[in-house]
Amino acid sequence: MVILLSLHLVACVTSTSKSPNPFPTIVVGKDTTGLYYANSTFGNPGQQQMLRIDIAQPYTWVFSGSDYTECNHLGSGCLTGSLYYIKESTTSELLNDGRVYEMYFIDSIFFNGTAVMDTVNFTTVDNSLGNEDLLSGLINTTVNWSTTTNSLSVKNMSFFNADDSRYVYQGALGLSGKINEANDDIDASNFDGSFYFLDQLVSNGVINSSSYSLWLGGDNENTINSTTDLSLDECGKLILGGVDQSLYTGDFVKFDTLPFYDVESQESSQGYPIIPLTKLSVQSSTGQTLNLTSDSFVEPVLLDSRYTYNYLPMELVIQIAIQANAYYVESLDGWFVSCDIADMGAYMIFEFGNLEIEVPFIDLVSPAYTLNSNSSLHFSNGEEACHLKVFPNSATGFSVLGGPFIKNIFLAADLDSNQIALAQASRVPLSSTSALITQATSSSSSETDTSSTNTETLLIVTDSDSPNNKKRNQKVETSHTNSDSLMYNPSAIRSGQIPFATTNNLTSYESLSLYVSISNSYSASKLVNQFTATISSDGVIFTGRSFYSTSIPKSSSTTAQSSNSSTNAAHGHLMAPISVNIKDYSFIKLISSGLFLLLGITIML
Ligand SMILES: *[C@@H]1O[C@H](CO)[C@@H](O)[C@H](O)[C@H]1NC(C)=O
Ligand SMILES: *[C@@H]1O[C@H](CO)[C@@H](O)[C@H](O)[C@H]1NC(C)=O
Ligand SMILES: *[C@@H]1O[C@H](CO)[C@@H](O)[C@H](O)[C@H]1NC(C)=O
Ligand SMILES: *[C@@H]1O[C@H](CO)[C@@H](O)[C@H](O)[C@H]1NC(C)=O
Ligand SMILES: *[C@@H]1O[C@H](CO)[C@@H](O)[C@H](O)[C@H]1NC(C)=O
Ligand SMILES: *[C@@H]1O[C@H](CO)[C@@H](O)[C@H](O)[C@H]1NC(C)=O
Ligand SMILES: *[C@@H]1O[C@H](CO)[C@@H](O)[C@H](O)[C@H]1NC(C)=O
Ligand SMILES: *[C@@H]1O[C@H](CO)[C@@H](O)[C@H](O)[C@H]1NC(C)=O
Ligand SMILES: *[C@@H]1O[C@H](CO)[C@@H](O)[C@H](O)[C@H]1NC(C)=O
Ligand SMILES: *[C@@H]1O[C@H](CO)[C@@H](O)[C@H](O)[C@H]1NC(C)=O
Ligand SMILES: *[C@@H]1O[C@H](CO)[C@@H](O)[C@H](O)[C@H]1NC(C)=O
Ligand SMILES: *[C@@H]1O[C@H](CO)[C@@H](O)[C@H](O)[C@H]1NC(C)=O
Repeated sequence: MVILLSLHLVACVTSTSKSPNPFPTIVVGKDTTGLYYANSTFGNPGQQQMLRIDIAQPYTWVFSGSDYTECNHLGSGCLTGSLYYIKESTTSELLNDGRVYEMYFIDSIFFNGTAVMDTVNFTTVDNSLGNEDLLSGLINTTVNWSTTTNSLSVKNMSFFNADDSRYVYQGALGLSGKINEANDDIDASNFDGSFYFLDQLVSNGVINSSSYSLWLGGDNENTINSTTDLSLDECGKLILGGVDQSLYTGDFVKFDTLPFYDVESQESSQGYPIIPLTKLSVQSSTGQTLNLTSDSFVEPVLLDSRYTYNYLPMELVIQIAIQANAYYVESLDGWFVSCDIADMGAYMIFEFGNLEIEVPFIDLVSPAYTLNSNSSLHFSNGEEACHLKVFPNSATGFSVLGGPFIKNIFLAADLDSNQIALAQASRVPLSSTSALITQATSSSSSETDTSSTNTETLLIVTDSDSPNNKKRNQKVETSHTNSDSLMYNPSAIRSGQIPFATTNNLTSYESLSLYVSISNSYSASKLVNQFTATISSDGVIFTGRSFYSTSIPKSSSTTAQSSNSSTNAAHGHLMAPISVNIKDYSFIKLISSGLFLLLGITIML
């Protein structure tokens, strides 16, 4: 069956000035370490900064260059290099008498630094609009969105000038909601609206609610075949205050965010993008799916693009490892799979109630190198070994879905109402997307409407009985009236309302929260041992079983395994290029003693 999905590229840039105002859209790139960033300049003259897009904390910060006296003075001419020289800027103002704030965030990022006010200028603003008139109403004394220079500048924005930091090598543009930690420097009560970028845009009338949409679907880099430089110039969009329907497919489902609960201070913050993951399964290229979770499974997960991996409960990691035929190499503290898995067309399916997000395995593996031999790792059968980008959440203290997941979603966040909405991202190059101007007349069209002239068509071939078809045809929320006003732009996120988003079907998840769990870290080592491989000094991984073994016993069942890895070939692997017919599958159970056991697994050939 062939489905034509018409994407709403309803924009017609050169059309009439009757179009409602669009939204400022900052172009997002990927740096050499695989983190997403936006180009900006700070101060006058503008000093270039690559700002990491940070959806898991609310503040903007840069690295201080104050120690470099040759640069840190008026007229020094030091404008590149991503350090901020406060004394080089004619408009900088040190706040609060130079008090040093110590900022510890939930994802382990730390910095300490002083608060500064200066002009912040985003210098790569998507500008296929070409209609200056359209924007003239948005030029304000504080905010200047210029289509001639592709920039969006905010005067008098407050940010941190970090003298010291941990774990990241780039400052950040913070986009989360406010933090409650009364006795910590990160607490919202320490700062006024000038510290919050989105609030600044609201108070200057540029957007209606503290809100954004993030799309990284232009990141189609094949990391398997790339070397160590992961950078991409332009691969995503940060849309301020609006939603672009052309950047997603299928259901767009909204969730009240779950609180982050600090066990020590007993305080909660609801401004983080935390939602309940309710099911995880894997799907082979032939459409076979296999649950990895039980019916009662629910796990709060933080969406955080500062991570290039995902972190999930150990029992789930083990399930994924079984299905992907992954091995744990203790000396490298990671799971390794054959890189071939990326070519097999298999997916992991993340479900959040009635929302399904498919993440191809190619996004879940990355090449592995040994420091010793400076070459990629190989299994003893010659297959190249890749890192599995899924780790036990004992490393983070809670579950996290990082960049590999986030580039597969379109994410909208309304910080005013602590709501986020997600959909499957369109994975298309940035260059093939249009500037966002949504016609007010596009009301009540559905995503399968092919009659409209200004649409781009995407051909999707699927199996007609594939479970993934079922939700593609949902009607979008009917939009409002024709108007030039931002207020009535059907795509504008308004306080408490993310346009087009439908409600989720989860009933009672209000009692859930995310918190740092320090227990259970390595109680699973017995089980991990079953999947442990060893590595030689020349980068060859020796496993106890052969890859994609076809020597699956004809007998209809095997019973509980002890810790002898050589018998594990009997499990079969969904990703393997062999045809298995799963008749019955029982899950790894967490036994009260804290040990895991594999229970009866039956595979028919
Ligand atoms: C940032 O600026 C650099 C240098 O001008 C450019 O190569 C890169 O493409 C820009 N990236 C983005 C995302 O704007
Ligand atoms: C900044 O952080 C470091 C730890 O990395 C600490 O030693 C130092 O005292 C901090 N500075 C201030 C002023 O808090
Ligand atoms: C920015 O801050 C400076 C110093 O506090 C003040 O003089 C100026 O009026 C402010 N400008 C705007 C546009 O708010
Ligand atoms: C906005 O920025 C543009 C480009 O830098 C500049 O020409 C214009 O004068 C600015 N407008 C205001 C009101 O500051
Ligand atoms: C912002 O950056 C653009 C492009 O670099 C520049 O033309 C513009 O003058 C800058 N605006 C301000 C207010 O500094
Ligand atoms: C400019 O900003 C002020 C607040 O600083 C706001 O009241 C006003 O509406 C804004 N003007 C426009 C045209 O958006
Ligand atoms: C947002 O839009 C609503 C109407 O939908 C309007 O009442 C409100 O004033 C707007 N807020 C801002 C900050 O523009
Ligand atoms: C990587 O490159 C090799 C040959 O250069 C090719 O056979 C393989 O399919 C590529 N892998 C992916 C995931 O594209
Ligand atoms: C998979 O999950 C669905 C719903 O979550 C359930 O109905 C089904 O029985 C599960 N399948 C297996 C094999 O456990
Ligand atoms: C939500 O929808 C999914 C998929 O349609 C379904 O499997 C699940 O049972 C529903 N959950 C509730 C609580 O209704
Ligand atoms: C590793 O290999 C790369 C490319 O082959 C080379 O540029 C680099 O210098 C090597 N590093 C070491 C430590 O040998
Ligand atoms: C695992 O099985 C192999 C052969 O089947 C045997 O040689 C080995 O001793 C067993 N190891 C353990 C720990 O039982």
